[in-house]
Amino acid sequence: MRTRITDLFGITHPIMQGGMHFVGLAELASAVSNAGGLGVITALTQRTPELLAREIFRCREMTDKPFGVNLTLLPIFSPAPYAEILHAIIEGGIRIVERAGRSPKTHMPALKAAGVKVVHKCTSVRHALKAESIGCDAVSVDGFECGRHPGEDDVTNMVLLPRAAEVLRFPFLASGGMADERSLVAALALGAEGINTGTRFIATKEAPVHDNVKWALIDSSEIDTRLVMRPLHNTERVLNNITVARLLDVEKRLGDQLTIADIHEQVAGVYPKVMIDGDMDAGAWSCGMVVGLIHDIPSVRDLIERIVEGADMLIRQRLMSMLHGQAVPAEAVA
Ligand SMILES: Cc1cc2nc3c(=O)[nH]c(=O)nc-3n(C[C@H](O)[C@H](O)[C@H](O)COP(=O)(O)O)c2cc1C
Repeated sequence: MRTRITDLFGITHPIMQGGMHFVGLAELASAVSNAGGLGVITALTQRTPELLAREIFRCREMTDKPFGVNLTLLPIFSPAPYAEILHAIIEGGIRIVERAGRSPKTHMPALKAAGVKVVHKCTSVRHALKAESIGCDAVSVDGFECGRHPGEDDVTNMVLLPRAAEVLRFPFLASGGMADERSLVAALALGAEGINTGTRFIATKEAPVHDNVKWALIDSSEIDTRLVMRPLHNTERVLNNITVARLLDVEKRLGDQLTIADIHEQVAGVYPKVMIDGDMDAGAWSCGMVVGLIHDIPSVRDLIERIVEGADMLIRQRLMSMLHGQAVPAEAVA
């Protein structure tokens, strides 16, 4: 399958793995890239720029295919040494950066001078237009169903993607809720030229996280996520657990008076406890509604092949037969 996104990244399949804190390590990124998609290392998971440089090197040892680095700028906790991180990315020979959070404007001159393609992740059409106007190469449009930060507009992909298609001239990826061949075909139909996938990639053999995390995803359904930090305008979609329930109680009790200090215990330093130690109730950790579509733990290659081969069949069989007025076999629907 060829789209402007496969051309932009130099990849075989229009499937990108979004940056994920304590998940986007070399093992997962290289597996996605080796399977023909775009794997992404998450910069801020590495404690220092030197460790990030080492992680980039490690990934390059595992794949000779293109891979990217996610650089997230969030307002909430202590600021990171962004200049040094940028240096590690550019010196590490990275040619694709996924930016998320605040506007990537300040980093654009350095990234462009180094020939880096920039994909900005955003949750609204106005932010996508802004990214286009400052010279980003593409955006990843995150619908309300997505894991992590869905923004504050609450527009789902069924409307957000065609709205993006109406106004954007550069290519965009559909992000949030993308799990399988149906997601890919739907995303393409709605105007995207590829999919960006987070939660689904956690339940794969190569994802370097504790097995408890993978099983928690399989055991959960589409109604098991919650939105936290809404009063702080930093909404995060997370998997429900007892700590999240406690956090929501605090939010309800304090209302507009809530500060980050009030929920620090439930949201800070959670990821190593969950992803490495497998302590599923350690705090709030990101998860998309797509969790309801996760039923197994395939290898990354099997998952990607399933998506692209399934999409091909879906288009040629189910959709074409509808177009030609033929009966659609029930097994072609599920
Ligand atoms: C556990 C987890 C951690 C994430 N961490 C980050 C991150 O550090 N930076 C970022 O830009 N996006 C992060 N994301 C968001 C993903 O890159 C992606 O945009 C999102 O998961 C897409 O929605 P989906 O989960 O429905 O596929 C994270 C998502 C998950 C599930």
